[in-house]
This record gives sequence, structure tokens and C-alpha cells, in this order.
Amino acid sequence: MVGVVGPGGGSGVTTLAVSLALAAAGTGRSVALVDADPGLGMVAAQLGLGEDRSLFHLVHEATLRPVDHAALGRHLQSYRGLAVLAGRAEPGRAVGSLLSGLESVMGLLAELHELILVDIGPLHSETAAAIAFRCQALVWVVDGSPLGADRLDRCLSSSFGRPLRSKPQMAIINRAGPGLPTRAREWLAREYGLSVLGLVPFDLAAVRSAEERLLPPVLGGALTSSLRRAANRMMEVLDGQGGARLPSGAPASTLRPESSSA
Ligand SMILES: Nc1ncnc2c1ncn2[C@@H]1O[C@H](COP(=O)(O)OP(=O)(O)OP(=O)(O)O)[C@@H](O)[C@H]1O
Ligand SMILES: [Mg+2]
Repeated sequence: MVGVVGPGGGSGVTTLAVSLALAAAGTGRSVALVDADPGLGMVAAQLGLGEDRSLFHLVHEATLRPVDHAALGRHLQSYRGLAVLAGRAEPGRAVGSLLSGLESVMGLLAELHELILVDIGPLHSETAAAIAFRCQALVWVVDGSPLGADRLDRCLSSSFGRPLRSKPQMAIINRAGPGLPTRAREWLAREYGLSVLGLVPFDLAAVRSAEERLLPPVLGGALTSSLRRAANRMMEVLDGQGGARLPSGAPASTLRPESSSA
């Protein structure tokens, strides 16, 4: 279970989570993409999928009755070989039981998939931090602006970020402009032991055209090769760490009703 997370809003987490998941699925692996952003989940919107089936609906069901593979199957959607559990389409709806249900949903998913990528969104809340803490590894999407690296520094030094520093950390520098990338790459490696997976250039035309066609930029256009390179590098790093599955014994095969938290 690999969390994709940003030190701030709008750094490109959803774009990168979708890209990494599709690129990994394109290599023949069994991959699930889960939109667990406790803010506003945008995975379904980026892929043109339905928003009436989601992690949040599934976790809500879990407060009423045990949830098993059949229930999970009713909420999973398929996109070009990728299993997708959409996110919360409605801002302001309570995240309530998300944390209590998430672990078991992930356990069910881990029985079916080699790699689970989780769009956590920005690390702005205790819920996001708790989801990130449950992941085996994290991919930070760092905005390649002059403030991007500074924002990550502040985030990793914050009370939300500090507990995460024991996890294997990777980073993708998104919207990379001239000048910053080399400095940021060296600095991230030195200060935080972050493995920089790659740089994705700023390319508004490529993302606009992808959004208009509901075809993520990893599947065609000027950003495809840099996104694929970053995904391949992520898989090399994960394979070097023994893969991205949950440790054996962690998954529960059914999800039982639990009281709300966070
Ligand atoms: N490399 C890039 N070049 C140009 N535009 C980009 C790039 N990466 C992302 N964008 C655009 O920036 C916007 C925000 O991206 P995205 O939704 O992926 O960010 P996010 O971190 O998930 O945001 P949020 O904090 O709302 O979850 C989108 O319109 C996306 O198309
Ligand atoms: Mg997002």
C-alpha cells in the first residue's frame, strides 16, 4: 500500500496517483487505485467514472453490516485494467468512520492486488496523516515551484509529518521548471533520504488536452514519457524493498461495523 501525498493542496497528487497506477497496471501487474482524499476526491472526475460507488460509500456500509469481497466488488470500478475505488465527491460530507473502515477495506484489496496506490491528497488534516501512517511507503508530489521544496520541508517537520519519516519516502517533482530541480533533488535526498523518482515538467497544454479527452496524461501527450519513467522508477524502488503488499497477517477478510472516528 503506497500513499501518494502532497505537502500542500493542488501539487498534482491526483494526476500523479492516476498516472502511477495506470503505468503500473500497464506492465501487467494487478493494481488498485483508491481515492482516500478526505477533502474532495477527484480520481473519478479525472477518469470519467461514476461517483455513486466509492470508498466512502463502502465504509459507510461497514458501519451497518460486515463488508466482504462481494460488497467491495460492487464499489470497485474498472478503468483500462485498473481497479478503482473512487473517493468522496461531495465536499463537507463527514469522513466519520473512514479510518476505522479503511484498514479492512485495504486488507480485502490486498488479497486481490499486487499494488495498491492511495490518493491521500494534501497532508492537511489528522485524517490524511493517519491514512499516510497506515501506508508502507509514501510518494510525495512536490510542486516544482521555488516554494515547493520549502513546503515539503515544513510539512515533514510538522506534527503531521514527523511520524511519517520512518516510512520509505519517495518524491516526484511536478511542474518542474528550470533551476530548481537539481537543487531540490539533492536537498531532498540529503535532508530526508527521499528517493526522487523523477521530474514532470509544467505543461498546461498537455493536461488541458488530457482533461478534455478524459484521457489521463500518462496515456498520451507530452507528459507521457516523464510520467512513465517516474512510475517505472517507483516500481524498481518498491521491488527493491520487497514489494508493496501489506505485511502478511495484516488484512482482515471481512470488515465489521465499527463506531466512527476521526
Ligand atoms: N505537470 C503539470 N503541468 C501542468 N498542470 C498540471 C501538472 N500537474 C498537475 N497539473 C494540473 O494542476 C491541477 C491540480 O492537479 P491535481 O488535481 O492532480 O492536484 P492535487 O494535488 O490532487 O489537488 P488537490 O489538493 O485538490 O487534491 C489540475 O488541473 C492538473 O491538471
Ligand atoms: Mg487531488
